[in-house]
Amino acid sequence: MLNGRDRQLRQITWDAYSQLSLPDKAPYLNNGRRPYHVLLAQQFDRQTLDELGMLATSIRRIAKSKAGMQFLQDLLCHKRAMLYFTQPSSRTFLSFYAACQIIGLSPAEVRDSATSSEMKGEAPEDTLRTFSSYFDLLVMRTPKPGFAERIAWLLSNTERPVPIINAGSGKDQHPTQALLDIYTLQRSFEHLGGIENKNVVFVGDLGRGRTVRSLSCLLTLYPGVKQYFVAPSELQIGQDVLDQLDAADVDYEVSYDFENVIPETDAIYMTRLQDEWDKGENDATKSDNSQYFLKPEHLDKMKNTAVIMHPLPRRDEIDSRIDVDPRAVYWRQVRNGMWIRVALMASIFGKVADEIFNFYELNM
Ligand code: CP
Repeated sequence: MLNGRDRQLRQITWDAYSQLSLPDKAPYLNNGRRPYHVLLAQQFDRQTLDELGMLATSIRRIAKSKAGMQFLQDLLCHKRAMLYFTQPSSRTFLSFYAACQIIGLSPAEVRDSATSSEMKGEAPEDTLRTFSSYFDLLVMRTPKPGFAERIAWLLSNTERPVPIINAGSGKDQHPTQALLDIYTLQRSFEHLGGIENKNVVFVGDLGRGRTVRSLSCLLTLYPGVKQYFVAPSELQIGQDVLDQLDAADVDYEVSYDFENVIPETDAIYMTRLQDEWDKGENDATKSDNSQYFLKPEHLDKMKNTAVIMHPLPRRDEIDSRIDVDPRAVYWRQVRNGMWIRVALMASIFGKVADEIFNFYELNM
């Protein structure tokens, strides 16, 4: 089970690993070019994103026929996955569950730590180590930033260093959402010159939106992309994200005027208020933010080729009448999430990705 890269994670102390910059952590998480643990957006390069997109599309087409689905379901029928979600989720949980079924992995779930021996005082680290005894892949969503990394490091020092996928951690990372967002953008701009040179605007609760933080990072891999951050001041994007854009020499604009930005954009990425992170009764985030909502009257101001995205769930920030506009792709994002997660799991078990590409070349 141990591979070259995992041995490297095993050979670094937790303190030394924790002090690395996010891009410097990447070699410890990847197995050559392909991911082993999937923990950070920063661990992906452009070539890997392109390969994942091609793999997802191949899988999507193969899965259309019964024979193709039987081929896919045979690939990992000898493996099991644990979905450990201690924060609420609809899309991420169910798309991973469906993705496991497509590629033959048997899924099991813990969605509430109240049903585990954590209630008897067991440390979550011991709970996760227990899962690694029974399963070959752990997919985890937790409110604790960095916890998935900690588990990956801990398990790397055991005889069962199974891969860990971060399905959303704290306010900091949601790498698999960013992968499905990139896949949606790849498909949306396939005949429009690709993602390169597009203007992408992020709107809403950017300070606490982990999907925005992860996608902003992946977009730095596409030359000429300009990023706009539109939010009320108390919800604006963090300086660490802007520092990352400066380091990558990426053009960006921080704005408070949504209406003004709309005609410029090729992709509008709406997000909801993340008030589950609010601590007190008098939070500034309870103020009226409706000037940052996308409304039907905005549609005429948008480019015909633009797309409207949202990681979902939504509240009022996208009027539901917009759902029928052909530029609204947020329901496509939901479905793309399933395909890209199949592709991701196939990549983690690298030989499987190669088998899929071979099958596609020979049969499609
Ligand atoms: N986009 C997303 O993470 O949705 P869920 O919280 O429903 O998984």
